[in-house]
Order: sequence, then structure tokens, then C-alpha cells
Amino acid sequence: MGIIGRSKNTKAERLLPEHIGIIMDGNGRWAKKRGMPRMAGHRAGAQRFRVITRYCNKIGIKYLTVYAFSTENWKRPKEEVDALMGLFFDYLEEALRDFREENIRTRFIGDRSAFSDKIQALMGEAEELSSDKTGLVLNIAMNYGGKPELVTAFRNIAAKISAGEVSPEDIDEQMISDHLYTAGQPEPDLIIRPSGEYRTSNFMVWQSAYSEYVFMDNILWPDFSEKDLEKAIDIYNHRNRRYGGV
Ligand code: FPP
Repeated sequence: MGIIGRSKNTKAERLLPEHIGIIMDGNGRWAKKRGMPRMAGHRAGAQRFRVITRYCNKIGIKYLTVYAFSTENWKRPKEEVDALMGLFFDYLEEALRDFREENIRTRFIGDRSAFSDKIQALMGEAEELSSDKTGLVLNIAMNYGGKPELVTAFRNIAAKISAGEVSPEDIDEQMISDHLYTAGQPEPDLIIRPSGEYRTSNFMVWQSAYSEYVFMDNILWPDFSEKDLEKAIDIYNHRNRRYGGV
């Protein structure tokens, strides 16, 4: 049994999560199993990312957030970080060409100031070119961490207090949500992590308070298919979301 967290409830109608988060994990192990360099796993992972994004758009998911590079991933060997930056650059160039045909709105979440000027420029262009798209909203988390996101939000709120724009009593959950990268978006209903790691790894710390996690331990991200996504949605459909109630 490769899936943790299946519950026994059944529902007659399939409920589509409005917002799905994916921690794209297992690229390195996928490559190692094949005697290939880790980067081959990341390239295969990037291909899966494209396929799964298009599929989410096709079936009517409204928001998809993928964890592409965390604030902790800079600790990896320089060669891997450099190669990942090259992969992001190639993806962004390709995505800019594809945007004309796709009804997907791309946004980047995280501190983009750490990336090269070239990558930052492509990120801005990708966001601008897709800003009028009405289909899936795709959040690509790059140099993202849930805790740093909260620190930034609190600093921005503190600056408003210093400027006399808000008072400490005005701070509530809505105000904090409104200062996150995902301001204005619904919180993720379902978060999927393949590869057998049962951690949340600093992903959407605030937004995931009531997300349903589906950990799939028999699959690595580069093998993740449309069927696996359907399986995760099916598991989500069998969960009983009570939000602390009964
Ligand atoms: C985690 O697997 C994966 C990453 C840190 C990189 C994810 C990046 C991609 C899938 C590339 C596609 C993204 C874009 C936006 C083009 P891991 O390396 O930690 O795997 P391991 O745990 O098996 O070593």
C-alpha cells in the first residue's frame, strides 16, 4: 500500500479541488536508480511539470502551486544549483513561446531578487504576457519558503504600523493572508508529495493549515502521471474535511 491517509468515506460526486499544491520530489533518486546524473532527473521532472500543469488546466483546476526551488535548495552543490538555474532559464524561454496557445496564467512566488537579472526579466515577462489568461493560475514557487514568506509579511505589516497606516489591533488572519505571495487566492485544498518523504518542507506554511495532504510513497516525481494526479484527487474525495468541527 503506497498511499498514506486513505479514509473510508465515500461520496457520490467527484469534487475537484480548487487549488492543488505539488511538492515535486524524487528527481535525484529517479536519476540515481538509472545510473544517470541528478540533473537528468530534474530534466525529466521539468517535463512532468509541463504535462501535469496542462492536465490540471484541461480538467478545470483553478490554481496549481508547484514547489520548484526552496530557500534551502541553495545549499546543494554549486554545479547542481547552476544546472537548475539553466533549466529554469530554458523553461522560461520555452514557456514564453507556449503562452500564446495556453490559457494559463503564470505567477512566481518567492524572493526573486536572488536570481540572475536574466531569469528575473523572464519571470516578469512571463507574468505580464500571461496576465490576461483566464484558465489555470499557475504559481511557480522559486526561492520560496513558507517561513521567510511570513517574515516578509510581518515586516510589511510592521512598516505599515510604523507609518501609522494600521494599528496592531487591526492585525487579523485576513491581513496576514493579504500580505503573502498568494494574496487573493484560495488556500490549497490538496497538497501532493510523491517520493516517500512525509514532510511539508516549508511549503505554504500559513496557507496549508487545513489542506489535505496526500503522500504517495511508491512514485518519484519524474514518473508522476495524469493517472497519479487522478488517484490523489480520488483520495481527496474520500477525505472528510471538518475544519475542526464535527
Ligand atoms: C526535488 O527533488 C526537486 C527539486 C529541488 C527541483 C524541482 C525542479 C523541477 C521539477 C524542475 C522543473 C521546474 C521548473 C519550473 C522548470 P530532489 O532533487 O530533492 O530529489 P531527491 O530527493 O530524490 O534527491
